[in-house]
Amino acid sequence: MDLLTGEMNSVAREIDKALGALLPPVEDYEAEVFEAMRYALLAGGKRLRPFLVLASTALFDVPIERARRAACALECVHTYSLVHDDLPCMDDDDMRRGKPTTHKKFGEATAVLAGDALLTLAFEILSDEATHHDPKVRADLVLALAQAAGAHGMVGGQMIDMLAETTSLDIGAVTRLQQMKTGALIRFAVDAGAIMGHATTDQKHALHNYAYDLGLAFQITDDLLDVEGSAEELGKAVGKDDKKETFVSLLGVERARMQANMLAEQAVIHMDHFDEKAELLRLLPHFVINRRS
Ligand code: IPE
Ligand code: IPE
Ligand code: MG
Ligand code: MG
Ligand code: MG
Repeated sequence: MDLLTGEMNSVAREIDKALGALLPPVEDYEAEVFEAMRYALLAGGKRLRPFLVLASTALFDVPIERARRAACALECVHTYSLVHDDLPCMDDDDMRRGKPTTHKKFGEATAVLAGDALLTLAFEILSDEATHHDPKVRADLVLALAQAAGAHGMVGGQMIDMLAETTSLDIGAVTRLQQMKTGALIRFAVDAGAIMGHATTDQKHALHNYAYDLGLAFQITDDLLDVEGSAEELGKAVGKDDKKETFVSLLGVERARMQANMLAEQAVIHMDHFDEKAELLRLLPHFVINRRS
């Protein structure tokens, strides 16, 4: 197993454990919403965003207990976005992470509530003193995640994504849509490193540029996998974007792949700014564009 795969597997195990501990089962009338949250959160998933948080906080030697909490908060927001993305009123999907989607298992109302509660849990985690002793750092993390997740970020991107089914968008508009729906949370991952690590302005810029290119490469690959991947490997249905404007519909498979490759190479170059501590961040773009799931 190569260095990156080994590290990603070990981060995934570590994050699974930490998420399980942050969200113990509850026995009372509201138990079902906790069960649905745990179901969605602990169903697996690549844990790419937590990995990015840990890799970028490691650049600045941020203590792992703190970094892990920021990573878990981000994974809660990401998982909530998937639970809501799969609802019948959105992408109407039955499978996620190799299992029935949360609304299939628990019903729509519980899935909506579980998503809401995962979103708020993220901010509870970040604003807890255990995440950082300095209230300014905690407030900066909360602000950055709120901006990334909200209507100027992921939610706004999901809104445009819905329009992309009925409206024709040009490449600039699709780029912006992808940056908002997927790039914004990926950018928060490196922001968490910059905020907790008190990065310099130059370091912040390098990390932002990296996240910009990586986020786009990641979503282009997701769109390619929708055309070329298998539901078995992906753990979710394929062929869902047929009627939607994406990089693949606009550029075709070959050019979309070239674009993802170019973005991945560019992302690696932005890491020239850092020393050997950025090795995992240098390896990640290649994984992102070559993944099968
Ligand atoms: C899927 O994200 C949704 C997108 C933003 C493309 P991932 O491919 O990271 O999903 P998990 O977390 O591994 O299930
Ligand atoms: C969803 O994008 C991105 C989110 C913000 C949840 P997709 O709709 O393409 O994600 P998948 O393909 O269902 O995982
Ligand atoms: Mg969607
Ligand atoms: Mg979807
Ligand atoms: Mg997709």
